[in-house]
Amino acid sequence: MLKIIAAENIKDTGKNAADIVTEVIKNKPDAVLGLATGSSPIEMYRELVARCARGEISFKQVKSVNLDEYVGLAPDHDQSYAYFMHHNLFDSVDIDVANTNLPNGLASDPAAECKRYDAVVASMGGIDLQVLGIGLNGHIGFNEPSDAFTEGTGLVDLTQSTIDANSRFFENKSLVPTQAFSMGVGQIMSAKKILLIATGEAKAQILERALFGEITPRVPASVLRRADDVVVCADRAALSVILKNHPDSVEFQ
Ligand code: GLP
Repeated sequence: MLKIIAAENIKDTGKNAADIVTEVIKNKPDAVLGLATGSSPIEMYRELVARCARGEISFKQVKSVNLDEYVGLAPDHDQSYAYFMHHNLFDSVDIDVANTNLPNGLASDPAAECKRYDAVVASMGGIDLQVLGIGLNGHIGFNEPSDAFTEGTGLVDLTQSTIDANSRFFENKSLVPTQAFSMGVGQIMSAKKILLIATGEAKAQILERALFGEITPRVPASVLRRADDVVVCADRAALSVILKNHPDSVEFQ
């Protein structure tokens, strides 16, 4: 089942998304969370940190696996996804850092690192909630458009569109990593519940293609419609095309 929950702005989108994470943790305090980086989930993390500070939720028993990491960036590099997770969530909630996992961007043997991360994901015994953003070309994690949906963790060559989009976080384009480790589409789809977050006008076209167009590996996020339980939390801007063409599919919260 696909549910699209709209909010007027980015902040309320983050609250809607945090409500879903909160419900999962309340029902299962030792839940396994699949976590995402990028600008889309930042407000959700901010809200979760606030709820944890108020004692409304606890991450004490939560385990996490992150979707992806840039190849070549150390965990303390301020653009690495490890740094992002510490800065936006791990350092500000009561999670046991030993229970958090990301691919190692500095791994010297990429094939071995993919195997190691597959084993990490498998050892979780199932992801209860997978959080996702969506790239401008429809990528999820770093699964770029291709001829087939990926299965397990892979070493990915980033497309020019993704490198360009991510260059806003780096001093200049030449510093943007061109490769990443990413969990595969099969691993993402194995999650019991999936939460996709999208905000801003720039995502409006691709969001409609992903949620209402052809299901194809050329638009990786389109595969989500095959999952049993998918919730999309988005703001009015990201939903502008969907609200025009499929208004009945959206509920405001
Ligand atoms: C990045 C990440 C994705 C993210 C996407 C969108 O490349 N690997 O996990 O969902 O781009 O990013 P943003 O949320 O900043 O728009």
